[in-house]
Amino acid sequence: MNAEEPILQEQAVSSRFAVPQAELDKQIEYTAMVETVLQSRFPDKKPLAFVHTYGCQGNVADGEKIKGILVSLGYDLTEEIDDADLVLYNTCAIREHAQDRVFGNVGKRKAWKEADRSRILALCGCMMQQTYVADKIKKSYPYVDLVFGTHVIHKLPEFIYRCLCTGKRVFDLSGGDGNVVEGLPIHRDGTFKAWLPIMYGCNNFCSYCVVPYVRGRERSRDFDAVVEEARRLIAAGYKEITLLGQNVNSYNKDKDASLRFPALLRAINDIEGDFWIRFMTSHPRDCTKELLDTMASCKKVAKHLHLPVQSGNDRVLQEMNRHYDREKYLSLIAYAKEKMPDLSITSDIIVGFPGETAEEFEDTLSLVKQVRFTSLFTFIFSPRPGTKAAAMSDPFDRAEKNRRFKALTDLQESIAGARTASMKGKVFRVLVEESTKDGLLSGRTEGNVIIVFPGDEALIGSFQNVEVTEPKTWILKGRLC
Ligand code: 5AD
Ligand code: SF4
Repeated sequence: MNAEEPILQEQAVSSRFAVPQAELDKQIEYTAMVETVLQSRFPDKKPLAFVHTYGCQGNVADGEKIKGILVSLGYDLTEEIDDADLVLYNTCAIREHAQDRVFGNVGKRKAWKEADRSRILALCGCMMQQTYVADKIKKSYPYVDLVFGTHVIHKLPEFIYRCLCTGKRVFDLSGGDGNVVEGLPIHRDGTFKAWLPIMYGCNNFCSYCVVPYVRGRERSRDFDAVVEEARRLIAAGYKEITLLGQNVNSYNKDKDASLRFPALLRAINDIEGDFWIRFMTSHPRDCTKELLDTMASCKKVAKHLHLPVQSGNDRVLQEMNRHYDREKYLSLIAYAKEKMPDLSITSDIIVGFPGETAEEFEDTLSLVKQVRFTSLFTFIFSPRPGTKAAAMSDPFDRAEKNRRFKALTDLQESIAGARTASMKGKVFRVLVEESTKDGLLSGRTEGNVIIVFPGDEALIGSFQNVEVTEPKTWILKGRLC
């Protein structure tokens, strides 16, 4: 093979998703125009923007770009919603409950908007990418000014300009298969923990999940762009970088091994400095021994694996379109534990998938007993319109699903309690994150377990050694060593 081939390929793939430079230049012009309009409308002080993000870390990372753009347009950010001149909800569609909360909060904004019609109420994110939701907003929430989807965040300057200058409602849900936009301004929420998206979208089409429909096809960011962003974050003092993607194991999967996910972990691990690398989410189908070996050998990669299993029963896994079975999952876990005896493993589980029987649910319980997860994110199945599972018949009622959900959370509670009890007297390296209401410090171990301890606020953002003195079920109490 010609040595230049991967590079040529890389350009071809990234340009498939790249937004044309002319489009980005147009947005730079809109930015200047919005700045001018805002300066004349707010001559004494900058207008205020309130941004709230629902859902996963991928959405949080989008929210940081949205805030970055708003700041570049001339807004100051506020936490006080009623003081804001612009309110933007960055929404999530993963479960019905998440959507209900958004509709509730939009409803509450009516009086705020009617008190001053020049205020801007904007909605974006996964929920808006569903036609039936956008239609409902159009019809039933006429005071919403701006609605845009997940593929056009970079056009926010233009949208705001149109809202400010035409007074007309703006709806843009275009770009079904998505794109990759580099170079947008980012207003990061943290000063020592950073989210770093490495890919967008998802190709897996798990039968219950709306993500592939609202986020488009899987596409990876350029390897060098990701490493360079990590380098800049570390140079700026960040102590924890979480690499984000719906399925990080398939990062650059159509490219040379030297550009795939394990290589990316190694390249970031090689950057000088004292920091942790985390990543989420791994899909068991694509989780390889090479990835686990790489985790084990890279000192800066936190020994925490979030590996969503969803169910412990093979028939249910097949109906979920997960492409692995219980045995494959358990063998991955066994290999991971052999390579990293202190590895902390967490997972996601869905209870009450359509047609899941009581016996099939027992398989989930037995898998949880066998793996002994550090913690679990547990969900009751929520039918998402347009997904395959939403059309499946479902003989079990909510009461039965609630019963199973409780059985699972009770089981996990007893496992977590026993796990934390075994940590008593041990010393852990902890990244100190914040102070608590009770005047203690709170941080996380490499395995992502929360530990609280007395200490000076000046330690926030640093690594400290903390001895566990009093394990509780979900958190540990400790003291600085
Ligand atoms: N119902 C319940 N849980 C869901 N998840 C995704 N879609 C659904 C749904 N329709 C859960 C999965 C996934 C996590 C992010 O959300 O467990 O891993
Ligand atoms: Fe949804 Fe499955 Fe993709 Fe995760 S891997 S985002 S659960 S479709």
